[in-house]
Amino acid sequence: MFLGHAHIGGPDRVRHWRRSGQNTDTHLNANDIQGEGSLMTEIRVAIIGGGGFMGYAHSLGWALAPIAADAGATIRKSVLVEADEERAKAAAKRLNWDEWSADWRQVIARDDIDVVDIVTPPAAHAEIAIAALAAGKHVFVEKPISNDLAEADLMQAAAEKSSVVSQVGFNYRHAPAITFIKRMLDDGTLGHPLQFRAHYTQDVGVLGRVLSGWRAKKGAGGSGVTGDIGSHIIDLASYLVGDIDSVTGIIGAKDPADDTAWLPDKQRRAGQHLDDAALWMAKFTNGAIGSFAATVYASGRKNRMFFELECTRGNVEFDWNHSDELKLSLVSDPPEQQGFRTVSMNENHDDFWWPLGGMGSGYVDDAALQLQKFVKAIVEGRSGAPSFADATRTQRVIAAVMESADSLRWVTVDEVTA
Ligand SMILES: NC(=O)c1ccc[n+]([C@@H]2O[C@H](COP(=O)([O-])OP(=O)(O)OC[C@H]3O[C@@H](n4cnc5c(N)ncnc54)[C@H](O)[C@@H]3O)[C@@H](O)[C@H]2O)c1
Repeated sequence: MFLGHAHIGGPDRVRHWRRSGQNTDTHLNANDIQGEGSLMTEIRVAIIGGGGFMGYAHSLGWALAPIAADAGATIRKSVLVEADEERAKAAAKRLNWDEWSADWRQVIARDDIDVVDIVTPPAAHAEIAIAALAAGKHVFVEKPISNDLAEADLMQAAAEKSSVVSQVGFNYRHAPAITFIKRMLDDGTLGHPLQFRAHYTQDVGVLGRVLSGWRAKKGAGGSGVTGDIGSHIIDLASYLVGDIDSVTGIIGAKDPADDTAWLPDKQRRAGQHLDDAALWMAKFTNGAIGSFAATVYASGRKNRMFFELECTRGNVEFDWNHSDELKLSLVSDPPEQQGFRTVSMNENHDDFWWPLGGMGSGYVDDAALQLQKFVKAIVEGRSGAPSFADATRTQRVIAAVMESADSLRWVTVDEVTA
């Protein structure tokens, strides 16, 4: 049981973490107030860009993270930063943050902030993350780490140079069903991965919902489907199957003058059009193969992320729209029982919050789970996952898909330069 309660102090302090009689040294930048043999740490968070979509998801996540399971620390939602004072104040009040600001530089310079959570459009990620790391803050940044590979490389270098914890917001990999699939891969239940097939489909394009703001501008933060929703299925593939070695891809950008056609590649590139649809195949370094699809022109698909992973000893299927379950087939199943069974997530699976299965879980749960794991990494002095290096590699895969679509050839991911 934790008895003390504390704020976190200067960035480089080594602290002594005591909990239930266990002693662990960590590089946490924390103040501790000692209770009777136990400590409790409060981690103070500043969220940058907190008035948007992800500001909402992360505000719920930060509130839930220490409640849903023992993260080893309490969370203080200290400061919400927005582009202007009025927006910052309104969002801070609605989402229950203590303070607000329109100046992220001033906020990350404060001694009483321990974590900087960056949920701005991607074009602002690098500058804020690198400054926050330099100020000794633990940094969580939304995906994609950046749409610019050179910036992602700089962010990775800054994270690796620092002694703080950094993590990227590929939330879907933290769903209990995905954690269970990972466990079945690690313990050999599924055997060696052979083929991964994933798609991430939405319908906003076909419904004619015109993108606005940063999402609509390539180079100003928007990237199109490959870098946006496609990055999630690349992250999942890398997490579950392993590094992608090479890719070949096709990119479709909608012709504004003809709703039955994709623009010719030359025109797409010259006009800096966002990609509205993408298909790519991949070879993994461990010999597995994969195929991927991402589009916003899929009628009826609100936010469907689906994959199938065939391995030497079995096969799993996951659909985010039924994120509480997965389909499983094992080669060792008795012949008369072969086929797919549905496995419902329950209290026997990692990161499941309820005393019995079937309670339902979704996007907010995932937002909280990723932040909870980030906090645990801080408390235990471990690296965050996915790391800036993982997310930079995902960015390199995206760049390889783009290069392949432009050059009409296979592209080796390691050979892609910024
Ligand atoms: N993991 C997911 O499921 C998921 C889903 C959606 C978006 N995202 C990612 O989250 C990030 C943000 O996306 P969003 O949909 O929340 O965007 P959004 O436009 O809804 O919100 C971004 C906010 O950042 C603010 N902002 C911009 N520049 C700022 C600055 N310099 N200082 C302070 N605030 C600033 C804007 O005013 C806006 O309120 C992007 O990287 C996006 O790819 C992730």
